Amino acid sequence: MAVQGVMDALKNANLEEIGVSFSLADLLRDLKIDGNRVYIKLFSPSEKYHQYLKEKAEKVLKPLGAEEVQVEFTSEPPKQQQPPQPPPTAQQNPFENRRRIPGVKKVIAVASGKGGVGKSTVAVNLAAALKKKGYTVGYLDADMYGPSGPTMLGAKDKQVMATPDNKLIPPEAHGIKIISIGLMLPSEDTPIIWRGPVLFKALSQFLFDINWGDDMDFLIIDLPPGTGDVQITLGQTAEIDGAVIVTTPQDVALIDVKKGIQMFNEVQIPVLGIVENMSYFVCPDNGKKYEIFGRSKTEEVAKEYSTEVLGKVPIEPKVAEFSDLGVPIVLAKEDSQSAQAFMEIADRLIKKLSEQ
Ligand SMILES: Nc1ncnc2c1ncn2[C@@H]1O[C@H](COP(=O)(O)OP(=O)(O)O)[C@@H](O)[C@H]1O
Ligand SMILES: [Mg+2]
Repeated sequence: MAVQGVMDALKNANLEEIGVSFSLADLLRDLKIDGNRVYIKLFSPSEKYHQYLKEKAEKVLKPLGAEEVQVEFTSEPPKQQQPPQPPPTAQQNPFENRRRIPGVKKVIAVASGKGGVGKSTVAVNLAAALKKKGYTVGYLDADMYGPSGPTMLGAKDKQVMATPDNKLIPPEAHGIKIISIGLMLPSEDTPIIWRGPVLFKALSQFLFDINWGDDMDFLIIDLPPGTGDVQITLGQTAEIDGAVIVTTPQDVALIDVKKGIQMFNEVQIPVLGIVENMSYFVCPDNGKKYEIFGRSKTEEVAKEYSTEVLGKVPIEPKVAEFSDLGVPIVLAKEDSQSAQAFMEIADRLIKKLSEQ
């Protein structure tokens, strides 16, 4: 059996029955053909779809003459598919092909070692703080596995439009231009496990095909957690003016901060500083501070890696409550301790960027 024939059959095997807009070929991780035996490995993080995918593969491959179709599954996250590149010459700098994101003066990536530390909360509140200070601001939610930007900015029902030359026009929420993978999904019901493989491929194009306007002051990019392919792709394709790393005060989170700083150093993106979130608890009844995690080592880590702590944001139940309502705390309750912390962090960020 010819590889091309098998590939074509997989490409034509759309998976509409389970509500997704792509084909078996998009999930393919490995393919071996031995006479009339075909072995394929498919990406599928959930066992729920295994039987369906196996039957679908048999159905499209048997008519080609496959007597045995062996299907294996993997839940390994997808690898970025790069277009073929010419082999690098000895002197070639891997970053020389970086491009600026059109129409944006300063691009800031907000990163974290792991999920749940408040990276998106920090990203949307920084965007809101900069907006409040009178700058024009965009927010790009590049966290394809957990795009929470539309919820946090109250933009879930907003539509992304396109210009005649196919550039995306971001809708606005609280005066902030927003693009999120969450706004681009065919429907909100698309199971989250299917979003990754398709959307991942699109990221680097996606970065450059957004019409942010003519002269936007700041673009905040909410990265997925960790130090994976998205961050590296971003570092190699886009000119990022600086990264902000979000952590919580616990030692385990700080280990990831070190990894994050090392990664940004490797991809030559300046680390602007660390934001420590959930630093202490502010009691909603009396506004009193409680240092529930004890003394944190964030300053020490910052010093060790020649960077600084841009600020500390308390745990305040209001932050989460307003976030769920679609209003960043900086706009909802400007006299709260967390809102004030975000405003100060924005000031320090502006200062750091102006020193570059
Ligand atoms: N300073 C804070 N005070 C109270 N709740 C917070 C704070 N920071 C984040 N949260 C809440 O914690 C949860 C995780 O935050 P999120 O920003 O989504 O994290 P990440 O983007 O790192 O996964 C959310 O429900 C958010 O509202
Ligand atoms: Mg998030």
